[in-house]
Amino acid sequence: MGSYRIAVFASGRGSNFQALVDAMANGSLGGEISLLVCDKPQAPVVERARKAGIDCFLFQPKDYTSREDYEREIAAELGKRGIDLIVLAGYMRLLTSVLVEPYSGRMINIHPSLLPSFTGKDAISQALAYGVKMTGITVHFVDGGMDTGPVIAQRAVEILEGDDEASLSERIHTVEQQLYPEVVSWFTEGRITLNGRNVAIAAPVKR
Ligand code: GRF
Repeated sequence: MGSYRIAVFASGRGSNFQALVDAMANGSLGGEISLLVCDKPQAPVVERARKAGIDCFLFQPKDYTSREDYEREIAAELGKRGIDLIVLAGYMRLLTSVLVEPYSGRMINIHPSLLPSFTGKDAISQALAYGVKMTGITVHFVDGGMDTGPVIAQRAVEILEGDDEASLSERIHTVEQQLYPEVVSWFTEGRITLNGRNVAIAAPVKR
C-alpha cells in the first residue's frame, strides 16, 4: 500500500504548514506532504517548504484570466501526485467547483473561530469587537460556501481581560498547531466518517 498523500495550500506565514511538516518528520502525521500550493511566491511558507524538500506549485492569480483557469492547473498537479487530502492552511482565496467538487470529503480547512460564529476574514478581530468571552478554532470540510462545511473538530480559547489581536492570535495559533496535525492523522488512519453534516471520529486502533 502506498503512503497517504497530502497537499497543503497556504498563502502566508505558514505556521500551520510548519506544524504539519514537523508532525510528518516525527512520524505522527502518518502520511506524506507531497506538495505545497501557494498563490504568493514571496510568502514565508515557500521557504519553509524548500527547507523541508517539499515540491511547490507557485502561481500568481493575475497571470490567469479566471480562478477556474489556475485551479485547472492545480488540479492537474494534484492528479499527477495522486493526492488523497487537500489541507487548506491560511489559503486566502475562494475555491471554485473545479477543485471543490472532485475533492468533496477530501478537503479540509482551519478557521480561527468557533463556527458558525465569525466566518470570513478577520475572525479574531470580529470576536474581539463582538465582545465574546470564548472563541476558538474549527477544522471543517470545505464545501461550496464560505466556512460552511461539516465540522470535524473544535477547540475553545478563552478571551482574557486586556486581550488584543496580537495576544489572542498567538494563543489561537498555538492551539491550531497542536490540533491541525492531529486531525490530519485521523484522516491518514482512516478514522473519519462523514454522514450528512455529522462527522464521526472512530477510536484509534490499539497496537
Ligand atoms: C490561521 O490562523 C488559520 O486559522 C487561518 O489562517 C491562519 C494561517 O496562519 N485560516 P499560518 O499561515 O499557518 O501561520
